[in-house]
Amino acid sequence: MDWGLKNRLSRMIKPATGRSVMLAVDHGYFMGPTHGLENPRTTIAPLLPYCDALALTRGVLRQCVEPTADVPILLRVSGGASVLTEDLSHEDLTTSMDDAVRLNVAGVAMSVFVGSAHEHATLVNLGKLVDEGERLGVPVVGITAVGKELQKRDARYLSLASRLCAEMGAHVIKTYYCEEGFDKVVDGCPAPIVVAGGPKFNSDKEALELAHHALELGAVGVDMGRNIWQSEHPVAMIRAIRAIVHDKATVKEALDVMAEAKRSTVAPVASRVPSPTA
Ligand code: 5RP
Repeated sequence: MDWGLKNRLSRMIKPATGRSVMLAVDHGYFMGPTHGLENPRTTIAPLLPYCDALALTRGVLRQCVEPTADVPILLRVSGGASVLTEDLSHEDLTTSMDDAVRLNVAGVAMSVFVGSAHEHATLVNLGKLVDEGERLGVPVVGITAVGKELQKRDARYLSLASRLCAEMGAHVIKTYYCEEGFDKVVDGCPAPIVVAGGPKFNSDKEALELAHHALELGAVGVDMGRNIWQSEHPVAMIRAIRAIVHDKATVKEALDVMAEAKRSTVAPVASRVPSPTA
């Protein structure tokens, strides 16, 4: 791996632990102003200090994140379909590597739709993106996208999709956790894996469990969105996720971190008004 590429990768996957908490806020590229991400600037700001990388599109980056922000950017460079279409796999590259470099990103990410009508195009595009990434020293994250089919994606599918992305040369694979056989997904994939959270669980604990199991079975981190910013306590939630990822906390310990973070995060308005006797 060339120095520049390795350096960029190390900005996202922290050398101290070999792990990463990536915060995914790229959902608007096909979902629009989805719940919790109506105003990306407001959602992102309080979470920035706690993520190792921020995954988003160039539009939200330019409009909603200050160029002075001290956070590595994982730029989504694919798109072209919306939630209104039946075929979410009809994506192409929508952002050039020139623009990614201009934005000084730490990495680029694109979705690959294995088994879909656009399998061929998305795999070939991944290969081309990796060529560009190797030329310019920019790591590429291959996303094993599932469209509307998440429930149907088992270890066999995720192994296949992850391995294909790694074979195309992706430097990191973002995939989904599966209850059975996730260790096989990791074992069969020569590139490091980060897991998405998927749709919001009923409880924060379930998302913490997902992160914990995935890390135990070999993932190097998470690239999580909805289970953080749709939580009632997004800052506490990302701090709990950090504890699992970087401090190897158990789910119980992470819940303790969360409870403590809830107590210490911005006091309720009433308690910030100086008391008359103070
Ligand atoms: C959107 C994405 C998301 O970044 C990915 O799904 C992670 O977010 P979440 O944890 O909400 O699933 O690729 O297309």
